[in-house]
Amino acid sequence: MAGNAPCRLGVLVSGSGTNLQAIIDRIISGEIRAEIACVISNKADAYALTRAARHGIPVVVHENSRFPDRRSYDAATVDILRSYSVDLVILAGFMRILTDVMVNAFPNAIMNIHPALLPAFPGLHAQQQALDYGVLFSGCTVHFVDCGTDTGPIILQSVVPVEPDDTEETLSSRIQQSEHQTFAEAIKLFVEGKIQIEGRKVRRLP
Ligand code: GAR
Repeated sequence: MAGNAPCRLGVLVSGSGTNLQAIIDRIISGEIRAEIACVISNKADAYALTRAARHGIPVVVHENSRFPDRRSYDAATVDILRSYSVDLVILAGFMRILTDVMVNAFPNAIMNIHPALLPAFPGLHAQQQALDYGVLFSGCTVHFVDCGTDTGPIILQSVVPVEPDDTEETLSSRIQQSEHQTFAEAIKLFVEGKIQIEGRKVRRLP
């Protein structure tokens, strides 16, 4: 980050973008001192693009189907993020696993939100996995991204109780509410320089 300038976020999305909206709202309210430099979607019809455009945020449709493999897709993503001088990459419902090409280009500067209490239930359909297992509590996790599937150092987690009559939809919806605040808190910690990574552990600085 240059001097006292606001942290520049590059937000990667694939879907509806409620987490993106929560971040936008908190930047507008002044809670997070950052600027969204660009929103990149691997899906041309992601509603997140409409949300971003409404706020005058530059959007890039960057479809993975046009690339022969994951590493070449990620290399092109890095070029886009660099062209917008991004400091912190936010995966806000971006449904792809990153390769070393992306992870090494932004060391300790890529955050993901996952709809479960990691390390439980990584990967797809985390909420259904939690219901199938019969846990009484699930939630969400914000973590730094490494080359594994939802394995990077954990920044923040929030617990959401599972109700006896929950379906994937009802549990997902309650977890998503908790995601919006938890993601915002983690981004705020980062942009205020209050995060230190020691191996797998993320320490919060005063
Ligand atoms: C969120 O629930 C997020 O946790 C999940 O996708 C949803 C995106 O919602 N991400 C993953 O499952 C990544 N493994 P949104 O587009 O409304 O923010």
